Amino acid sequence: MLIEIEKKSQTYQFEANAGEKLLYAGLRAGVPLPFECATGTCGSCKARVDQGDVDEGWPEAPGKERFKAAKREILMCQCSAQSDCSLSVPTKIAVFRDDDINPDHHVGLITQYDMLTSDVLRFEVELPADLSFHAGQFFVLQVPGVNGFRAYSMVNYSTGTNTLEFIIKQNPSGALSKWMFDSDRSNEQIDLFGPLGRATFHPDESHDLFMIAGGSGIAGLMSILEHGRQVNHFKHHNVALYFGVRTPADFFFAERLRAVKAQFPDRVSINIAFSNEPPTSEQLSGNDGLNYLQGMVHEHALPAVLEGGGNTMHYLAGPAPMVDALIRPLILESKVPADKIRYDKFN
Ligand code: FES
Repeated sequence: MLIEIEKKSQTYQFEANAGEKLLYAGLRAGVPLPFECATGTCGSCKARVDQGDVDEGWPEAPGKERFKAAKREILMCQCSAQSDCSLSVPTKIAVFRDDDINPDHHVGLITQYDMLTSDVLRFEVELPADLSFHAGQFFVLQVPGVNGFRAYSMVNYSTGTNTLEFIIKQNPSGALSKWMFDSDRSNEQIDLFGPLGRATFHPDESHDLFMIAGGSGIAGLMSILEHGRQVNHFKHHNVALYFGVRTPADFFFAERLRAVKAQFPDRVSINIAFSNEPPTSEQLSGNDGLNYLQGMVHEHALPAVLEGGGNTMHYLAGPAPMVDALIRPLILESKVPADKIRYDKFN
């Protein structure tokens, strides 16, 4: 089916397959459509149907809370076309980098599956062919028997790989989480679409990095650390990471974080904040190179942000309420320019 998208004086055309989400079809064709979560929660992919018929997909999608059905407003990440369609997109069409990789549909096989803590699971997905992605990007995943896609950032980084590494936190009310945690899913096939997301790291921008993560939000920041480590970015640039979890038992990736600190001891600062319990005496002895703190991660991270941002790119990763609560003080109190803050909101 032919889809025409109009934005002010510009018109884009692309083909969408039957049942394919309009956002995915457009991005796959290289059309720079606006989006954030790609899974129906944020509302950024709003469009108006001017002509044609669409299947609106998820009726209760939180992203269309304030939409007007009479105006035929839709979420492009939830709708699929039932005929040729013309749409108008009210929000700014995103500008892509020249080296951005067009996302596409993939079928992958879960190959690794292990628990990092009592409620955080790590898994790897093998794809039929190599692909590249920017550190900090994510894929949306759909598993058998569960309708709709969910977004997960890659933990690993590599140019040209057929392996994607993810983590997922247990969420008793989440269907995909339930499927993943119910039994060992090794050798199960899943559908993926990506890579997506603009909370990305690019060494050629020559930034210092200031990163704040809550819980499983650490995934994309691990990918950024890995890319920075591989290209020796931290030889000449500082990175400060603040990672918040509830208790010492909830802390994971300690070994990988210690390895980055050990490789670049002068430029890397890694701070782990426990919200519900104090650090252990062993952690406080300070022998492993990481700083352990008690309290909410933002209470420790925000005072460390430089006024005006300097040449620093700020990355925020975690539950949407945490990200929202950080953006305001960063901009209003620390005077960090909005274009020096990158985040993706999934929840
Ligand atoms: Fe479609 Fe977030 S609701 S991109």
